[in-house]
Amino acid sequence: MDVANPMVPETRRVKRVIRETHDTLTLCVEPGDDEAERSFAPGQFNMLYAFGVGEVPISISGDPGKPRLWHHTIRDVGTVSHALTQLKAGDTLGARGPFGSAWPVTASRGSDIVIMAGGIGLAPLRPAIYAILAERDQYGEIVVLYGARTQKDLLFSKEFESWRGKYGVQVRVTIDSAGPYWKGNVGVVTTLLPRVRFDPAHTVAMICGPEVMMRFSVIELKNHGIDEKNIHITMERNMKCALGFCGHCQLGPTFICKDGPVFSFDRIKPFFGIREI
Ligand SMILES: Cc1cc2nc3c(=O)[nH]c(=O)nc-3n(C[C@H](O)[C@H](O)[C@H](O)COP(=O)(O)OP(=O)(O)OC[C@H]3O[C@@H](n4cnc5c(N)ncnc54)[C@H](O)[C@@H]3O)c2cc1C
Ligand code: FES
Repeated sequence: MDVANPMVPETRRVKRVIRETHDTLTLCVEPGDDEAERSFAPGQFNMLYAFGVGEVPISISGDPGKPRLWHHTIRDVGTVSHALTQLKAGDTLGARGPFGSAWPVTASRGSDIVIMAGGIGLAPLRPAIYAILAERDQYGEIVVLYGARTQKDLLFSKEFESWRGKYGVQVRVTIDSAGPYWKGNVGVVTTLLPRVRFDPAHTVAMICGPEVMMRFSVIELKNHGIDEKNIHITMERNMKCALGFCGHCQLGPTFICKDGPVFSFDRIKPFFGIREI
């Protein structure tokens, strides 16, 4: 990123494109040589600019231990995300970042970890999962609960077996609506909580998904005995500058771009559910 003018996107090349689902793909983008650009913390995002179309915040979904390429998993939902999902290997885009706060990965050493994701929400959490698995013996139970609309919307499902087998992660998956070949769980992600083992008094939870999903996940985690300060969520709001200047993402005294997007629930609770102030 141009530190002298962090509002100006730098041109970056797409090295590879991975088709994830019918409407979602991962762009593997070459970062610049700058060390600050090459290292990122799980939970951080970049502003990606589709030339002539617009700029949107997109989380980094790859392995922080392998920052040679930025992985950005993007769902085609509107004008800019559509343009970004049309890019091919060799194409260029504009990028600024990385920005924002991180999941409390190292701060959670010694604890059990419960990760709850809905839909594209697994993308911002995947770097945290990689970072935790890279030092597996530092953590107790690791639980990943993932919900999607249908089987064909499930992201990264090829990785679930290795997380289970190699690292002993309790991975449970559910979908809202099942076809004839689905043999797994059906229902919302919170229905998976009673089926996994963790010690609520020593658990850190990290949640990302649609706001309604995060709301019910927080309620259920609290019902299971996890303290609000140990529950972390990531907030999505419209962003323009990503630097705490323009106020687009401001909620009271908090800027989602600069103070977030990852917050402990006790901190963001007063503003949770408010679209804009
Ligand atoms: C910090 C942060 C990180 C993000 N990380 C990711 C990521 O890793 N991957 C990713 O795909 N997106 C991510 N997003 C969301 C992404 O920025 C939006 O999807 C994008 O801004 C939509 O812009 P657009 O021009 O494509 O759609 P617009 O043209 O602005 O919107 C088109 C329609 O889609 C709806 N819409 C917008 N966003 C979403 C959404 N997320 N889900 C469903 N409907 C939506 C709008 O309400 C509107 O009706 C992130 C957002 C934030 C704030
Ligand atoms: S996007 Fe401008 S203040 Fe957050």
